[in-house]
Amino acid sequence: MKSLANYTFFLILTLFCSQTCIINIPSVAAITSMKPGDVLNHSQVLDSEGGRFKLGFFSIPQTNKTYLGIWYAGDPVEKKLWIANPNTPILNNSGLLTLDSTGALRITSGGKTVVNIATPLLTGSLIARLQDSGNFVVQDETRNRTLWQSFDHPTSCLLPGMKLGYNLTTRQNWTLTSWLVSSTIPASGAFTLSLEAIQDAFQLVVSRRGEIYWTSGAWNDQGFPYLPSFRDSATTYQYNLNLVSGTDGMFFQFEATKGSFPSLELSSDGAIAAGDGSIYTRYNKFCYGYGGDDGCVSSQLPECRKDSDKFEQKRGDFIDLSGTSTSYYDNASISLGDCMQKCWEHCSCVGFTSLNSNGTGCRIWNGKRDFRVDESGNAVQRYVLVSPKSSKGKTWIWIVLSIVITMLICGLVCLIKTRIQKLQHEKRKKEEHIHEMNAADSFSNTNLKEEDEREVQDLKIFSFGLILAATNNFSSDNKLGEGGFGPVYKGQFPDGREVAVKRLSRTSGQGLAEFKNELILIAKVQHRNLVRVLGCCIHGDEKMLIYEYMPNKSLDFFLFDPETKKLLDWQKRFEIIEGIAQGLLYLHKYSRMRVIHRDLKASNVLLDENMNPKIADFGLARTFKQNETEAVTRRVVGTYGYMAPEFAMEGAFSIKSDVFSFGVLMLEILSGRRNASLQQFNRPLNLIGYAWELWKEGCGLELKDPALEDLYDTEQFLRVIHVGLLCVQEGATDRPTMSDVISMLGNGSMSLPIAKQPAFFTGRDEAESYSSSNKTEQCSINDCSITVIEAR
Ligand SMILES: *[C@@H]1O[C@H](CO)[C@@H](O)[C@H](O)[C@H]1NC(C)=O
Ligand SMILES: *[C@@H]1O[C@H](CO)[C@@H](O)[C@H](O)[C@H]1NC(C)=O
Ligand SMILES: *[C@@H]1O[C@H](CO)[C@@H](O)[C@H](O)[C@H]1NC(C)=O
Ligand SMILES: *[C@@H]1O[C@H](CO)[C@@H](O)[C@H](O)[C@H]1NC(C)=O
Ligand SMILES: *[C@@H]1O[C@H](CO)[C@@H](O)[C@H](O)[C@H]1NC(C)=O
Ligand SMILES: *[C@@H]1O[C@H](CO)[C@@H](O)[C@H](O)[C@H]1NC(C)=O
Ligand SMILES: *[C@@H]1O[C@H](CO)[C@@H](O)[C@H](O)[C@H]1NC(C)=O
Ligand SMILES: *[C@@H]1O[C@H](CO)[C@@H](O)[C@H](O)[C@H]1NC(C)=O
Repeated sequence: MKSLANYTFFLILTLFCSQTCIINIPSVAAITSMKPGDVLNHSQVLDSEGGRFKLGFFSIPQTNKTYLGIWYAGDPVEKKLWIANPNTPILNNSGLLTLDSTGALRITSGGKTVVNIATPLLTGSLIARLQDSGNFVVQDETRNRTLWQSFDHPTSCLLPGMKLGYNLTTRQNWTLTSWLVSSTIPASGAFTLSLEAIQDAFQLVVSRRGEIYWTSGAWNDQGFPYLPSFRDSATTYQYNLNLVSGTDGMFFQFEATKGSFPSLELSSDGAIAAGDGSIYTRYNKFCYGYGGDDGCVSSQLPECRKDSDKFEQKRGDFIDLSGTSTSYYDNASISLGDCMQKCWEHCSCVGFTSLNSNGTGCRIWNGKRDFRVDESGNAVQRYVLVSPKSSKGKTWIWIVLSIVITMLICGLVCLIKTRIQKLQHEKRKKEEHIHEMNAADSFSNTNLKEEDEREVQDLKIFSFGLILAATNNFSSDNKLGEGGFGPVYKGQFPDGREVAVKRLSRTSGQGLAEFKNELILIAKVQHRNLVRVLGCCIHGDEKMLIYEYMPNKSLDFFLFDPETKKLLDWQKRFEIIEGIAQGLLYLHKYSRMRVIHRDLKASNVLLDENMNPKIADFGLARTFKQNETEAVTRRVVGTYGYMAPEFAMEGAFSIKSDVFSFGVLMLEILSGRRNASLQQFNRPLNLIGYAWELWKEGCGLELKDPALEDLYDTEQFLRVIHVGLLCVQEGATDRPTMSDVISMLGNGSMSLPIAKQPAFFTGRDEAESYSSSNKTEQCSINDCSITVIEAR
């Protein structure tokens, strides 16, 4: 009994001691808000009002780098839901969060500012607090206004109540960006998640370095088709998804009905995961672009890859065989998602892994390699290309198939031969060397008798004989003009169908297979505002593209001719602008490959019989490019006067350089003048500069083409000038995207941002320094004056 009593006493003592010990630890008083002058250091934490969230500095053990973040109180893994400085870590524990009297929220270290989180620049009774929704806000207490909130600057996670989408009025665009390497490097990774309206359907879109990679499918009140239900009772998490759309924007939100620590995260692989990291997107690890029922966006499959190829994670190593190599991409800003793309697109690549131990960089194995699997725990994991082989039992099927195919090809070749002989007969004076296209083997089918436009391998091949006959031996009478990539001829097939034949100049230096691939892609890009490619013809070195024929020629023919321009009234001109915008948007955003036109100009806009505009020559710049992965091309293809400054000077192209050309085109359509034509007025200004001067002086209507009758909508006219000037701004990032342009043009009540000075503006600023003879002209209308400087 005594020992029991002793034991009990001991137990009570222990308990008491542990209690007092806990009490004795100097507990830091909970901080729930910050006032101007307050500082939060590495050992302090800001608690949310109801205690659900915490904000503070944390270090990542693998890198010893420190960040400021928000996490759920009590979450065992303390998953970081928001990070203030993902790209600017602090290298030691000296980081401080400060709020000063202007409302500026900063992280400093060693007396220097590491990152400005918010700079509202407002005095008043300021307070920074973490709300119980996980939103970190800076508020002006007297006016009860939120000056800044972390919900407006999402990182990789979405919390209940947080928005994903955009608001055109406030110009906010809430998107998620993946971490570079999951759980260790929060720096911006390869993937972004945004909400977009694609063909009138609202979809979540994951992009990899700007290229659409995965889409959720159209929102259908219940959810998204490729993002399985969050309502399934078996799942750990249950979320109610909600989509709100208005005329000026839309956003996606969710509320959690089941599961602790709810969130939606864009993982560093580009997948969407719920709170505990379980993946909710249907694809497993990588999207390959060969379609399927998983939302992965189909894209051009590299020649060498098959629909069943994929990468598998295996332990072991590659064994060197002769003639093999390893490539390294020593870039600390890329990780596995980028390596997968590099390997997938590089035909000889058989496997990859990251280069650095922290998960960045790429190492890629090329050539014929064997992989030796090593299941012992210490072998490293690699991503190995797995190509399922056809089973041996089916060999006889292949034999039979190849016999059948050989016979078919023989039959076809005979057919083509007789056909060509017939044509030669008809035309009598054909040159001797007309023979069937040498590409017959790779194109396998050339059914010319078929009158409908059914695609054969998605691309129709015409024989050289047929093209020669149609264009009357490329006679100069049939020549329609000279495009950027070669002359264009009118042709007429024996059945009466009219076509335009572009004879590509021989500078492309591309292989036949690559050329074919490009053509198949170009042929797939179809939109009512794009000229339709009917097919192609290959004869020796010679490559030709066959387009639908546009009876009304090109826009420049109408626009810059004093007589024909009268046929283009304001209504028509506005429709043409809208049509071009729609075609360009399609190229930039919704076609299977993102196409940057790079040579948009009035002569590349053709008009059909109803004067609907159709953009021509798209996709060709791409086939003429030397290196697919380079964003800077040595060969600047384009037309002077339409080229954006960054393109003309550095060869850097982007969709924004097309926007620039579109802006120039808009101004030309309004004024009926060529961009470069204003020299005749003895002015050092081009059209852009002229439009800008007028606009600044409030004389925008002066830009109007005199051929336009008074029948036009003044407000709409001014709006188009405004949008045009936004498109030709110097900074590519300032320029709107084509979808912005379309909403700006279409919505008369939408307020537009103020246009900054355009590029190539050689007006007053520059001229003033050397001008001695200034001449002032009066605008005739509206009594506005515009100063025009004349150089000596
Ligand atoms: C953080 O601030 C608190 C309160 O001002 C202070 O007691 C503590 O020593 C500071 N910690 C560090 C590491 O500076
Ligand atoms: C991080 O710091 C710890 C302790 O100071 C040190 O042992 C470790 O090597 C550091 N790790 C890195 C990656 O620098
Ligand atoms: C932490 O780093 C900053 C800048 O990198 C430096 O100024 C400061 O002295 C360092 N502090 C400590 C305690 O090492
Ligand atoms: C501040 O505004 C919010 C909503 O905007 C409101 O719920 C709250 O009651 C307001 N607080 C005061 C003190 O007016
Ligand atoms: C929002 O940003 C994403 C990714 O940067 C972009 O794809 C999308 O077009 C933007 N949306 C708007 C309306 O600007
Ligand atoms: C966009 O922001 C404006 C101004 O705050 C607001 O009135 C409007 O409702 C918002 N639109 C959407 C779709 O959220
Ligand atoms: C590293 O990769 C990033 C992201 O793709 C790219 O922007 C950057 O130019 C690359 N740096 C080098 C040196 O290639
Ligand atoms: C990862 O490792 C590479 C090479 O060692 C280094 O250059 C890079 O800075 C590291 N990145 C991070 C975030 O630690």
